[in-house]
Parts: sequence; C-alpha cells; structure tokens
Amino acid sequence: MQGQNSIFGTIVQAERVILQGMENGMGGSLPVENVQQLASKKLKDIPLRYIRPELHSDEVSTDESLQIPAVDFGKLDLGTDHESAKLHGACKDWGFFQLINHGISEAIEEMKAVTEEFFKLPLEEKMEYAQLTNSIEGYGQAFVVSEDQKLDWGDMLFLIALPLARRNMRFWPANPTAFRSTLDRYSSELKRVSMRLVKAMAENLGLEQQDDLTSLFEECVQGIRMNYYPPCEHHATKVSGLSPHSDATGITLLVQVNQVPGLQIKKNGKWVPVKPLPNAIIVNIGDIIEIMSNGEYGSIEHRAMVNPETERLSIAGFHSPTMAAMIGPLAGLVKESSEGAKYKTVSHEDYVKLVVRSKLDGKSLLENLRTT
Ligand code: OGA
Ligand code: NI
Repeated sequence: MQGQNSIFGTIVQAERVILQGMENGMGGSLPVENVQQLASKKLKDIPLRYIRPELHSDEVSTDESLQIPAVDFGKLDLGTDHESAKLHGACKDWGFFQLINHGISEAIEEMKAVTEEFFKLPLEEKMEYAQLTNSIEGYGQAFVVSEDQKLDWGDMLFLIALPLARRNMRFWPANPTAFRSTLDRYSSELKRVSMRLVKAMAENLGLEQQDDLTSLFEECVQGIRMNYYPPCEHHATKVSGLSPHSDATGITLLVQVNQVPGLQIKKNGKWVPVKPLPNAIIVNIGDIIEIMSNGEYGSIEHRAMVNPETERLSIAGFHSPTMAAMIGPLAGLVKESSEGAKYKTVSHEDYVKLVVRSKLDGKSLLENLRTT
C-alpha cells in the first residue's frame, strides 16, 4: 500500500522528473482518467481517489494583511538598492514574491490565450499530445505511480522548452496554430527575466564572483507546465488541484491565466492564499536555490485549490541550472558561514536521481541532502 506521503509526493516527483525524464527517458505516469472530462459530467459523487480527507484539518489563514511582497522588476533592473533589498527580504522571509513591471506582458497575454485555447480543444485532439509511458512531457496528469494513489483534480501539459536541443516537438501542440511560436517567444522572454532575477539574487547573496550562480543558469533547463483545474461543483473543498510540494528546480515563474484564486503557500504552519496582482508574475524559490544559497533562501511548500464554479488555469515556468552543474552550496557562501556547508554537493544528474528516489513528501529531498 502506498502511504499518505506518496500522495503528496507524487506531484513533487512529477516536477522532479523533469530533468530525469529528459536525460534518460525513464519512467512516466500511469494513465488515469482525464479530469476535465470527468468534471464535465458534474457528478454528485466523484471517485474516491480524488477525495482528500486530510484537507479537512488544514488551517487556512484568514489574515488579509498577510501577503507575499511585490517586487518591481523595472526598478530592480536599474539597480535600485531599495528594490534589491526588497527582493532579498522576499527571498529570505517568504521564498515567494509577485514580480510587477516586468515588461513581458505581451508575451504573457499571448501565452495565456493559446493555453486557454489548447485546453478547450476536444479531448481526442488534446490526446494527440498525451504523455507516453517513457516520458513525462505531454498532456496528462501529475506523475501517477500506483493504482491506489490519491489523485489531483487537474490536467496538465508539460513541455521542456530549454535547452533548445531538448525540445521534443512531438508534444508541442500544432493547434492552436500560434501555439509553438508563442511558446517559443514566451520561453525566451521568461528566461531573460529569470536570469535577471538570478543575477540580482547573486548580488544580494554577496557572491564575489556573481558568475558563480548566473553562469550556471545561463544554459538553463526550462520546463513549462500549463495547469488546468476544472471546477468541482459538489466537492471543491474536498479535492486538491495540486498537492503540497516545493519545486525541486531553481526558480519558478508562475502566471495565473485567469483571475480565479487557488494558490496557497505555507507560512508559519498555516496556508496563506495568494492574491495575484493583475499582470504580476508569481516567483518562488525552488530547492536548488535553497541548496546553492546554503539555506539563506528557502523553498516554500505550496499547493493549488479548486473552485466550485470556475475553472482555473496557470502556467509554471521552472528554471534550473545547466545539467553540467554541481548542485551544492556555493563555495563563497560556505566560507562565510560558521556552520559550513549545510547541504551535500552532488552532480545535477545525481540530484535528479535522488529527487526521483527520495521519500515522497514535503521537503524530504532537502532533508536527505542536509549535512547536519
Ligand atoms: C506548480 C505549481 C501552482 C498553481 O505548477 O508547481 O505550484 O497555482 N502551481 O497552479
Ligand atoms: Ni509548484
């Protein structure tokens, strides 16, 4: 029997096999029912595999003033000290922030449009891009590893966008016709913004050779995941759109396609609903940045909830360093720390293998890599 942990971990694993799937073409998801299709039946009783009793006891914050910080990209790009300090605080205290004034709204709007159009296609057409058994790319559900595992109320289309040589056009929808060119543009704009953030983080971390971090991300691995959470008319509070997880990658840039809320982050033991600012990109620190910053910045658990009446869509862009990178605390930061290196150093490839094998819950991967 799979335990409770595997329920949570499945999603973590889905994210974490990004790289592994790329490198080895290993593993994939067991096919499960399409959730959009299931939701359209508006069943009074949905299959038990979607019902999550543990949600019942979770505490959700009602403190309206508790919100993730906003960071102004324009000011950051100009090198404003105040904005840099704000970014540093956001990375240290929250692991999450909303990026405003990023200058890529046009590419985002186009990407949102093709994403919405894709999920509106008839099921048979979407299934042309279905995940295959040996790959996690394509259209389907989060990595499902066992027949008795609980399932999330959502479908996704996951594609590797960078490096270019890793693109598998087999999974890139040809319909809508603008999909491929739009994603291509979105990928490069998103990468540019991500790299600027990584550089600012490197400066904030006081890295003498800022290139330490920035050069590792220059040849980044970028995965784009389009999430579709159908409404769940009768059981919205009992299902999970995306189970609690931290992103195993470096930094994530998340765009809300429509204004339906659902993202929650764990803060002081409570779930804090994120209120997306119009046009903002939600950025979060992943496990790799936590490790490389020697724990100065932390990856935060988050999850997505489901709405009873309205569908919710989001687009997550995951950025990791080059596959040639070593994943471990940066030397400059270890030198400064009285505690030394807080995490082990492993090759990116080994990291990915560890990710896949590690106990499937919350932040257990990082626990495995801790030195103390
Ligand atoms: C993810 C994620 C949250 C959301 O895709 O990793 O955390 O709001 N998504 O869809
Ligand atoms: Ni995530």
